[in-house]
Amino acid sequence: MALIDPVLIKSRLGPLAGRFDLDALDECDSTSSELMRRSERGVPAGTVIVADRQSAGRGRRGRSWLSEAESGLTFSLLWRFSGPLSRLSGLSLAVGVALTRALENLGAVGVCLKWPNDVLLHHGGEYAKLAGVLVELSTDRRGTQAIIGIGLNLQAPSADLSLPAGGLSQALHALPDRHQVLAEILTTLAEVLETFAVDGFAAIKTDWQRRHAWQGQSVRIIAEQGESQAGLCLGVDDDGALLLETPGGVERIFSGDVSLRRA
Ligand code: ATP
Ligand code: BTN
Repeated sequence: MALIDPVLIKSRLGPLAGRFDLDALDECDSTSSELMRRSERGVPAGTVIVADRQSAGRGRRGRSWLSEAESGLTFSLLWRFSGPLSRLSGLSLAVGVALTRALENLGAVGVCLKWPNDVLLHHGGEYAKLAGVLVELSTDRRGTQAIIGIGLNLQAPSADLSLPAGGLSQALHALPDRHQVLAEILTTLAEVLETFAVDGFAAIKTDWQRRHAWQGQSVRIIAEQGESQAGLCLGVDDDGALLLETPGGVERIFSGDVSLRRA
């Protein structure tokens, strides 16, 4: 498979082509780290860096994102929002909605969301991680800048990971060309980020819950130190906090240092 060709992506983006400025690299440490360095030099909102290989792909909480050249898509998008940081709660959930919409538009079935930042594939009764979202925010006098990093497996990774991992090829009859996948994701991202910028996560919440893997089911929240809390997952709040029904009442869980697992 060839390196991503920005011209081909532009042609597939149609009227949205002017919103994105795409650079395709053979390799870098992390597309998000590279975009962060470029943002310090003032690159515009809508800049996208896609790389075939990352030598230090990053996940949430210092974890690694592993990918093999051409069997996945790893890219980062720079977006700017006016107003304070507090308006951006729920952004990584909104990005998850955009991703699942895009994959469904490509014909994928069984794609669902896991709070706060994963896209899962529900396949043969099991859940496997298909994609991860890493949102990194910073503020300056112009407002808030988000570096939105997305790693999507086109083929299930061969690496031994702590939780099951899947690939888009398992959700479709025929895997589309990577250009088509990336253009579809950028298109839905532009739509969802526009809605999010105006109305916040509240406007996307219902769609998130509809796609939520474990809505209304028993789950466990595991804290960094290992202690866990069980409850019924009621969904999410307008700011993206997870709502957990426990014997002591409904708790709002923030994404910081906890992990969600099926009970
Ligand atoms: P949680 O978000 O619930 O804490 P998680 O395992 O999804 O749990 P993240 O920090 O969101 O953790 O994601 C990083 C993790 O993703 C890594 O620790 C690794 O287990 C897993 N991972 C890394 N590369 C891939 C990949 N290509 N496909 C699927 N999973 C991967
Ligand atoms: C997660 O599941 O914790 C998030 C994974 C995000 C991985 C993507 S790959 C492109 C971008 N560059 C990175 O270093 N990380 C994100």
